[in-house]
Amino acid sequence: MIIASNFKTTHTRASTRAFVQSIVDMMAQTNSKQEVRIYPPFTALDTFCCNDSMRIGVQNFYPADKGSFTGEIGFEQLGEFGVDSVLIGHSERRHILKESVEFIAQKFDFAKQKGVEIIYCVGEPKEVREQGIDAVMSYIWEQFDGIDTSYDRLVVAYEPVWAIGTGLTAKKEDIEEVLLCLRTKLSCELLYGGSVKTDNIEEILLAKECGGVLVGTASWDADAFSAMIRSADTCKK
Ligand code: 13P
Repeated sequence: MIIASNFKTTHTRASTRAFVQSIVDMMAQTNSKQEVRIYPPFTALDTFCCNDSMRIGVQNFYPADKGSFTGEIGFEQLGEFGVDSVLIGHSERRHILKESVEFIAQKFDFAKQKGVEIIYCVGEPKEVREQGIDAVMSYIWEQFDGIDTSYDRLVVAYEPVWAIGTGLTAKKEDIEEVLLCLRTKLSCELLYGGSVKTDNIEEILLAKECGGVLVGTASWDADAFSAMIRSADTCKK
């Protein structure tokens, strides 16, 4: 399963290094084979000694190798750190940073040309959820406009906006309902994200079609993230 930690604007260079090392050590000791992903802030990127099933990715990038894009980070810079996994479409970038559907599609195309793993995030706000599953799915399908869902390194993360950073987790049945709908058109791995914690991860991983989790807040503590990886190891799916 894919167990991913999105650091957002948390952790320093030093604490990221310690975090990564403790996860590498734990996975070696327990012989864990989970596909672990860690998305630190740009300032903490470095060359880390990861294991074969672990990758350090980025939360954002500018869709260019390099150029006159003040304040942005291009792929030439990411290449220095061997970055091979990117997040695209996160609701915080859609809503707070105002990334448009067109720009998101441009980023997707660029990352696809580069051949990196893409974790593409989709999810509905609360007012859409309140209108029921049909409204939720039409909102989510629109987020796939301009996105090549046949890309072979695509992973889709369903992250309901109302569940992100709020402590409100979607119910297992609600997660399953959306993932099963996504499965009708997508063959890639499907993840869930939104207030995943050590005490609810197991139930979430047991949801049909759930291939892992993308975790924010509760994963920022290395021991808690280790416990989540261990839950995936012992989860009888
Ligand atoms: P929380 O786990 O803090 O709800 O964040 C989820 C998320 O945004 C992962 O990308």
